[in-house]
Amino acid sequence: MAIHLRNATVFLCFYILALSVCVLGRPATFLEDFKVTWSESHIRQIDGGRAIQLVLDQNSGCGFASKRQYLFGRVSMKIKLIPGDSAGTVTAFYMNSNTDAVRDELDFEFLGNRTGQPYTVQTNIYAHGKGDREQRVNLWFDPAADFHTYSILWNHHHIVFYVDDMPIRVYKNSGRVPFPMNQPMGVYSTLWEADDWATRGGLEKIDWSKAPFYSYYRDFDIEGCPVPGPANCASNPRNWWEANTYQALSAMEARKYRWVRLNHMIYDYCTDKSRYPVTPPECLAGI
Ligand SMILES: *[C@@H]1O[C@H](CO)[C@@H](O)[C@H](O)[C@H]1NC(C)=O
Repeated sequence: MAIHLRNATVFLCFYILALSVCVLGRPATFLEDFKVTWSESHIRQIDGGRAIQLVLDQNSGCGFASKRQYLFGRVSMKIKLIPGDSAGTVTAFYMNSNTDAVRDELDFEFLGNRTGQPYTVQTNIYAHGKGDREQRVNLWFDPAADFHTYSILWNHHHIVFYVDDMPIRVYKNSGRVPFPMNQPMGVYSTLWEADDWATRGGLEKIDWSKAPFYSYYRDFDIEGCPVPGPANCASNPRNWWEANTYQALSAMEARKYRWVRLNHMIYDYCTDKSRYPVTPPECLAGI
């Protein structure tokens, strides 16, 4: 019901059998749910605030963050990445608990490339303060030609990273792995220069003669339990993202996931024996 309400950020609370179901609807504009966190002058609102343009030049990159934090749910955005020679640029879209000691974090990082070479998408997961779970896939389309949807689903059963309708990563809560359960996370995005590590260990340098670099965002969608917010929201099994169909990949999704891993995965920490002589338990948890 709430997901039909696209035009305003509204809390809809239904009291059904004394259980409250509270869902945050899709915001109409950037400023309803987000704030600029780094370099106001490099973020421009376009299309009446329904889309934004991020700018990277030699003076600065930029960043924005959600005004609120969320515990479980799904966030998605449509992003159009820097076209042409984007080597050395990194566009990130992530969730972060902002707690230094025991950080939880779910990362999408888009690593630019030379003209005609594929973008790399790196994902990482920090749970209870430990990260070092990098995976990388090369995209099977040009993400700078058009907007594509990037989303993170996070419920009690698993975390799934999607590129459009393709699951590219699954982190299962098998009960024997650290899993983010208690700390709410904010939603963040940044555009910056990282040619010291992002281009295969700094092999390629950013070409500033091509600056400024632009990426575009629209259709910001956060559906989750805001914290602070209704106390029982996060544990409510009636939240749509906790429903049966979201507890594991469907057969169709599992096929897509296998296709991505087989044809587009270029790095997986799970199989990196030099870093992990003993396979980490989450790598054996299946999907
Ligand atoms: C860039 O393209 C090269 C050649 O296709 C590829 O090996 C590399 O993984 C791509 N990504 C980055 C970030 O360099």
